[in-house]
Amino acid sequence: MTHTTLPLPTSGIDLFADDVLHDPYPALRELREAGPAVRLTAYDAWVLPRYDHVRAALADHERFSSAQGVGYEDQFNTQMKGTVLASDPPDHTRLRALLSDKLAPKALAGLRTRIAALADDLVAEAVAKGDFDAVADLAAVFPVTVVADLIGLTEDARGPLLSFADAAFNTFGPFNARSEAAIPFVGQMFEYLNTVMVPENLRPDGWASAVYEASDRGDIEAASVVPLLTAYVVASMDTTINAIGNTILLFARHPQAYQEVRGEPALVGPAFEESLRLESPAQGFFRRTTQPVDIEGITIPADTKVLLSFASANRDERKWERPEEFLVRRNPVDHIGFGYGVHGCAGQGLARLEAQAVLGALVRRVSSIELAGEPVRKLNNVIRGLASLPVTVRAEGQ
Ligand code: HEM
Repeated sequence: MTHTTLPLPTSGIDLFADDVLHDPYPALRELREAGPAVRLTAYDAWVLPRYDHVRAALADHERFSSAQGVGYEDQFNTQMKGTVLASDPPDHTRLRALLSDKLAPKALAGLRTRIAALADDLVAEAVAKGDFDAVADLAAVFPVTVVADLIGLTEDARGPLLSFADAAFNTFGPFNARSEAAIPFVGQMFEYLNTVMVPENLRPDGWASAVYEASDRGDIEAASVVPLLTAYVVASMDTTINAIGNTILLFARHPQAYQEVRGEPALVGPAFEESLRLESPAQGFFRRTTQPVDIEGITIPADTKVLLSFASANRDERKWERPEEFLVRRNPVDHIGFGYGVHGCAGQGLARLEAQAVLGALVRRVSSIELAGEPVRKLNNVIRGLASLPVTVRAEGQ
């Protein structure tokens, strides 16, 4: 019997280099073409660039483990150990259950009116200016206010949370200028959250109090309380901010699509999902193989870091027709912008509620959105988004 050995797909692409982060899509297309699993020579890692394999890996936590962290560097992964993000079942199941009722549809339904009113006020304020920065004045303000409130933090404890979240995501990448600059921030973040997230500072009905109660009952160790809450703080901020910012940019660049949504406001939800597919705020996370894994005849060795590229999967031409286009009627319900499987985003209901509240208010109040200057990209090792998005809007009826 003869054995044929397939050539091993390799690539020298550096997915964390500045020029690639500015526009990752040509590099991701090249990786999809290179093979179903590609060894990245710039790192000690592999990447899965095609939709079917990314989704299958997300559904296979036994072979694609999160327990050693979902970033690249061991040093940073250690900091996240024992959190919901960096654990496998059965530990993961127990950790995730701690806040699941707070994020369940029933709990979210109770928030809908408050979140909608807050979004409407913010949008009205921004629109009154005519020219505003859709990131600083809108997208960035909203999730911080909502999440800090849900955690149960007092108003003055919210200030630095934003810069922390950006820094934390940078440390999920390899050592580079971004992750190195982030190290002191992440140290400060843990110190800060250890100081402010103490029971006497927290509202009794918030997420943080619920986690403290779980620790009092002995469901989790006391030492896990702040790391667990930190993972929720980090996961909920820049993701949502950039999801909102990216969608407003798509609306500004595709005025016809914006008018289509205005004419049929039920399209706000599908347009947001399409934005998550096309410009996935969380571009990808790593897993570690627990055994050799065969992907269409290519073997990824055991104990290998594998980047699951959500951004690439979400534009895979094998899965999507016209994958590069922003089609507000596509309604890509099976995109993996929120991940999939046991680690699928725990806050996706809340993210949708927040984004749809802001975008819905925009659609009601604004008849046109135009760029008032070049959008400025914020480079981050994991998150795709904008530092600034200057727009001019015309208020409805003007
Ligand atoms: C549009 C906004 C958001 C996006 C694009 C997003 C994306 C993601 C993705 C891709 C994952 C999977 C990580 C993995 O597979 O390793 C994830 C997990 C997670 N997200 Fe989100 N997220 C968003 C908003 C939020 C919000 C608002 C919260 C607030 C509670 C949140 C909390 C979490 C948590 C706790 C996890 C870890 C779940 C687990 O490991 O079981 N996310 N998110």
